[in-house]
Amino acid sequence: MGIFDRLTGRGPRASGEERKDRPVPRHIAVIMDGNGRWAKKRGLPRKAGHKVGAETFRTIATYCKDIGVKYFTVYAFSTENWKRPQDEVDALMNLFRTYLKEAAETMVARGVAVRVLGDLSVLPADIQRQIDEVHALADTLGEDAATASLCINYGGRDEIKNAVRALAHDVQAGRLRPEDITEDTISAHLYTAHMPDPDLIIRPSGEVRTSNFLLWQSAYSEYYFTDVLWPDFSTKDMDAAIDDFNRRSRRFGGV
Ligand code: IPE
Ligand code: IPE
Ligand code: MG
Repeated sequence: MGIFDRLTGRGPRASGEERKDRPVPRHIAVIMDGNGRWAKKRGLPRKAGHKVGAETFRTIATYCKDIGVKYFTVYAFSTENWKRPQDEVDALMNLFRTYLKEAAETMVARGVAVRVLGDLSVLPADIQRQIDEVHALADTLGEDAATASLCINYGGRDEIKNAVRALAHDVQAGRLRPEDITEDTISAHLYTAHMPDPDLIIRPSGEVRTSNFLLWQSAYSEYYFTDVLWPDFSTKDMDAAIDDFNRRSRRFGGV
């Protein structure tokens, strides 16, 4: 680190020193991956990895709110994850029950609007009721509240297909002309209609793919990949991802 960086506060600080002043992206999304491998390394069942991964979610979501991230979105269960063994799917559904209950009990006090994004119609009925309750509470929080979104039974292609279908219905019913379909109309028909696109998408666990996450919304997102498995992901790892993001030049096609 040069003297200029030292004077301006740019560049890395001495190790162990917390940087509270770093600018943060408005919307951070995370593909929470690596729970199974984390458990396997310890000789534990995969569901043990999901349990610790869910605790990491709590820690990181809280941290993001504390450092001023307005929107924090996580990929918790994909439209493809139903292929997994039934006992693993059941364990994940039970974790959703636990965390939705916690959200309902603490959301208003913490001032974080929790939302669930995805095709919720095929989730167990009791979970759908919990989600309705959580959304009703989220609606009572003002515009300024931070938002934590949990993507459950979410698929980017499924989401775009649903939007196309809804627009086709509007055209068929004479409510919309095909030439009036714009990028904004499409965005407004996605689960993320009321939030900005993610600025930063983090994928832990060493995989370098999107796995059907936020396909439309990620057109100009910055990606950050790390080998850390999600249950081990710490606030320091989040700081490293944000620092990396802050060093990038986003040109959006310009110069
Ligand atoms: C969690 O990690 C992601 C979910 C689908 C819940 P994984 O369960 O995919 O863990 P790995 O990739 O097998 O290690
Ligand atoms: C993506 O992880 C889905 C979630 C994190 C919820 P997967 O583990 O399902 O993705 P693939 O199968 O490695 O692409
Ligand atoms: Mg995985």
